Amino acid sequence: MKPLEYCNGILKLIDQTLLPGEHNIVELNNYVEIADAIKNMIVRGAPAIGVTAAYGLAIAAKSINTDSKNEFFDQLKKVCDIIKSTRPTAVNLFWAVDRVYDKAVSNKDKSIEEIKELIETEACLMEKEDVEANRNIGQHGNELIKEGSTILTHCNAGALATCDYGTALGIIRAAHESGKKIQVFADETRPYLQGARLTAWELMQDGIPVTLICDNMAGHFMKEGLIDCVIVGADRIALNGDTANKIGTYSLAVLAKENNIPFYVAAPISTIDFSIKNGDQIPIEERNPIEITHIKGIRIAPEGVNVRNPAFDVTPNKYISAIVTDRGIIYPPYDENIIKYR
Ligand code: MRU
Repeated sequence: MKPLEYCNGILKLIDQTLLPGEHNIVELNNYVEIADAIKNMIVRGAPAIGVTAAYGLAIAAKSINTDSKNEFFDQLKKVCDIIKSTRPTAVNLFWAVDRVYDKAVSNKDKSIEEIKELIETEACLMEKEDVEANRNIGQHGNELIKEGSTILTHCNAGALATCDYGTALGIIRAAHESGKKIQVFADETRPYLQGARLTAWELMQDGIPVTLICDNMAGHFMKEGLIDCVIVGADRIALNGDTANKIGTYSLAVLAKENNIPFYVAAPISTIDFSIKNGDQIPIEERNPIEITHIKGIRIAPEGVNVRNPAFDVTPNKYISAIVTDRGIIYPPYDENIIKYR
């Protein structure tokens, strides 16, 4: 299942705001629409946002009509800044934009047409690399999964959040494909319901047994002894292992520790922000209160009520048993071990 597909200057996205009820594909052919699609979560999930941004730059570059290289790079830089301003937390967005821009700059001696082609090729390569990374995460992570396990996951770190296969769900898929009889408990993930709408749907498509629970039920099932491990994705991992992921991840990690349940983070190396020492430096996106006060356009909270809606939280490294990456499993002490993957 691929959430995005690029061909000849057009990016097709599955509109994830409508799943699972409607399977609608939107076709985007300019960077403004692509920036809006990231902001409005038509596409979401850290790796998918990154690759979408890269294609946004490829499409923007094609449309820059000038013979002047200075003008070309000025305009490209402006597009980079606009795309970077869409969502602040997932580092993959910034990583992807910088990687594409750096590719262009390091080839500035070539013709503008050649640079445009190089940008497009780089974006396509990033899509391919993401799928390979997820397969590798799956293989490494499968070593941690015991036969018969029940795995709790939060949000959607699946094929829909990447370019295919998924990170946390990549491990779950790999375990299932290797013949292990596993099952998944999926948190619904208020307020945007990525767990209920996307993870439950994705796993059902693959025939992987899944049970949907409300976020506030996780502690109960852990205490009852039903959960063998927790696996979540990540939006940004600091050098010391502190990890930003969907709001509610931190509470799960504390509950897992309290109940002696391993808590694993699954992410490609591109989700590590080597420029920040710890999680205090991770910007947390605050989204529109309407996501809390309304469900599908119906108001469920009193008009005028104060609302906070942070989309992510930071789980301190001490709660994380291991970080499963495409290049292997990183164990504590993270402040010594993560830097080796730079
Ligand atoms: O707000 P979202 O849906 O973009 O948040 C997604 C998550 O928090 C995922 O867990 C994370 O991006 C990892 S996706 C492989």
